Amino acid sequence: MKRRIAVFGTGYLGATHAACMAELGHEVLGVDVDESKLAKLSAGEVPFYEPGLDDVLKRNIDAGRLRFTSSYEEAASFADVHFIGVGTPQKKGEFGADLTYVDSVIEALGPLLTEPSVIFGKSTVPVGTAARLSQRLREIAPVGESVELAWNPEFLREGFAVQDTLHPDRLVLGLEKPGGRAEEVAREVYADLLEEQIPLIITDLATAELVKTSANAFLATKISFINAISEVCEAAGADVSVLADAIGHDVRIGRHFLNAGIGFGGGCLPKDIRAFMARAGELGADQALTFLREVDSINMRRRTHMVELAREAVGGSLLGARVAVLGAAFKPNSDDVRDSPALNVAGQIQLQGAEVTVFDPKAMFNSRRIFPTLSYASNVEDCCQGADVVLVLTEWKEFRAIDPGTLSPLVKEKIVLDGRNCLDPAVWRNAGWDYRGMGRRTE
Ligand code: UDX
Repeated sequence: MKRRIAVFGTGYLGATHAACMAELGHEVLGVDVDESKLAKLSAGEVPFYEPGLDDVLKRNIDAGRLRFTSSYEEAASFADVHFIGVGTPQKKGEFGADLTYVDSVIEALGPLLTEPSVIFGKSTVPVGTAARLSQRLREIAPVGESVELAWNPEFLREGFAVQDTLHPDRLVLGLEKPGGRAEEVAREVYADLLEEQIPLIITDLATAELVKTSANAFLATKISFINAISEVCEAAGADVSVLADAIGHDVRIGRHFLNAGIGFGGGCLPKDIRAFMARAGELGADQALTFLREVDSINMRRRTHMVELAREAVGGSLLGARVAVLGAAFKPNSDDVRDSPALNVAGQIQLQGAEVTVFDPKAMFNSRRIFPTLSYASNVEDCCQGADVVLVLTEWKEFRAIDPGTLSPLVKEKIVLDGRNCLDPAVWRNAGWDYRGMGRRTE
């Protein structure tokens, strides 16, 4: 059965979820407080870069299945299935998650619920949040016990958001009690996915919340593990890329998320591991997660290490050096620069007195906004003009495909630092470049 759904929050998660639920045939209303975002989305324009999302958005707006509003009243009278997809950023000056946006959806929506409804939380929240919100809903919703809250965490990766929403590895559903309406509604909403045999794991609220934070903690740990090994490889003259391929053949280990480089960033992994540590502390289980501190510090060390490599490459002082930075997004196929290692390295190098020019295929607008003092070029060639060193910090396909021969006449010194181990060292060295990766042999 097709349902009427409201999705609160129209960021990476919410906008994708709203468009994809409409793609599954449901009638969907996207809700946000940001009128400028709503105007763009209503006009069929995605306010960020996410491959394939604009097609899904336009198709479903045209089909009349997808609309956007800032009115909670409209959402409450239109839908009886509500998804919460607002952000849970890191609190200022603290490790914990800021739940202001999640709380305000509940506070605004709850008093408007006059018909039996189901609310699914998708945002990443500290364990225990769902139980608290559920109790609060009972207090403020006119329907009282007839509103059910379930937790249905989202695992989408930016750059693959549509694919991950329509064909996820698994669906996780945390329920207050088994066999209620929430499970029935979830099975209807996700009927097409369940038909595809996508596993549905039904559990309690706390486990569902913890599945998400544990998954992200594991991924962050995997990346920091290989980055720690990469430090040892550098000290021992070994090659971390070959090592990752070799250990990755073991199915118990797996090759994914074993790419050494300048580490993880973005709107999720860094803040999620910190919020996880903070929550474990509140629960009296802080010792269990002390290793995540190390994961975090290995990760942050990667950025400083890249700055050091750049300093060495230009002869010991960055003062007055011309540094070309290719890549600003926290990963390719995204325009997201939140906690981006690339932009952070560019900023640190500039602070040491270098003249830094940045180019990114999609993240220029966002980078300029948060880092207006860096110089920006409109293509790879202009970025590398007169450079003393070229840094590749985001592994965009177009950077991997660069023919070093075309850059040779433009740069001052043919030195490339590969912060993502994404270039072929042989190709660059054969073209007369001094290539240096991270945890790779210098030759
Ligand atoms: C992540 C999780 O993957 C996703 O399941 C969750 O829902 C949200 O957080 P995302 O932030 O989109 O998704 O990015 P992801 O692909 O996980 O990459 C995170 C960071 O790790 C990027 O900066 C990336 O460059 C870095 N990374 C990834 C590595 O440094 N090495 C790797 O091997 C993989």
